[in-house]
Amino acid sequence: MKETMLKYFQEVFQDTEGVKVFFAPGRVNLIGEHTDYNGGHVFPCALTIGTYAAVRLRKDRKLRFYSMNFTEKGILTSSLDDLVYKKEDDWANYPKGVLWALGEHSYKVERGFDIVYFGNIPNGSGLSSSASIEVLTGYIAKQLCGLNIDLIKISLVSQYAENKFNGVNCGIMDQFAIAMGKKDHAIFLDTSDLQYEYAPLELGDARLVIACSNKKRGLGDSKYNERRSECEEALKRLKTVVNINSLGDLSEEEFELHKKVIQDAVLIKRAKHAVYENRRTVQAVDALKAKNIRKFGLLMNASHVSLRDDYEVTGIELDTLVETAWEQGGVIGARMTGAGFGGCTVNIVKKDGVDAFIQNVGKAYENKIGYKADFYVVEIGDGPKEL
Ligand code: GLA
Repeated sequence: MKETMLKYFQEVFQDTEGVKVFFAPGRVNLIGEHTDYNGGHVFPCALTIGTYAAVRLRKDRKLRFYSMNFTEKGILTSSLDDLVYKKEDDWANYPKGVLWALGEHSYKVERGFDIVYFGNIPNGSGLSSSASIEVLTGYIAKQLCGLNIDLIKISLVSQYAENKFNGVNCGIMDQFAIAMGKKDHAIFLDTSDLQYEYAPLELGDARLVIACSNKKRGLGDSKYNERRSECEEALKRLKTVVNINSLGDLSEEEFELHKKVIQDAVLIKRAKHAVYENRRTVQAVDALKAKNIRKFGLLMNASHVSLRDDYEVTGIELDTLVETAWEQGGVIGARMTGAGFGGCTVNIVKKDGVDAFIQNVGKAYENKIGYKADFYVVEIGDGPKEL
């Protein structure tokens, strides 16, 4: 990939003197969805697919961005002195946001870059192509400008950029999973205090299969912020009767005892998902450690049902993919992954059943939805690195 990236750089910026090549992964979340901004647990892992960048430090403060995925946008030009959100800068608002956020946190980036990105994560798929480019940019700034910043801090700065520069109130999961990725391991993260633990993902004769609905999110981001404020409102009402900081502090029993104070049926469902999903995540990691992959799969299925019925973030595309997956032989667990409203599902499928799975689910999806889904058998990879 290094040679390919250098070739791209040559094409766009004419010579490759002093160019370095970096990579940051995408991520898939196995369980613990919409829990990260509720102080709960998540269990994501980094993938071997992700975003590459060929980059050279400039002598001045100019920034020139180019993406092989959006060649029609051409070279997008900016400057370290003009790091403001601009609609016409389109995808480049992600790297710009990170450079801005580094400055806001007193990390000094004093020279600009020429940079060519290429991502092999399907865009808008819910595998965090945006967090991947953010963490990658933070990592490049660290390496090229000698910033004294660790990977967790890079993830926090990237999340800050997404929240404050790009206006999506996401939690920490995606940026953390990408920055801290470890080959063949998932990351059990407590988002209330960022304590984390790596758990080997030993699937035996099963594989991780991602099905991409190809339904673009569209209104998804505003719905995401809406779910977040619904949870905040439910928490506010619960706090009048229990001493908690987040929904993640509640057990299921405590929630059932106090939920009537929320009063609103929709808000109760949203909070119920956050509380129960948090517990499911803890139980799923225990099941995995006990090598009970069946139980892990059943918890994944229950997670989807809760996201469909209580949190209401699935939609017909994701439901069709998951519900058809449940009917296939050799499927251990299947659920939507990421924010929802389109994007991908994650499936654990016995190796021998993978081909039939892709064929059957693909056919049923196309028949019902009218266009194709894409399937990827993925591997779990490391965090950012220089190639
Ligand atoms: C998106 C956000 C994450 C997380 C998930 C839902 O991926 O970026 O912070 O909230 O949705 O679990």
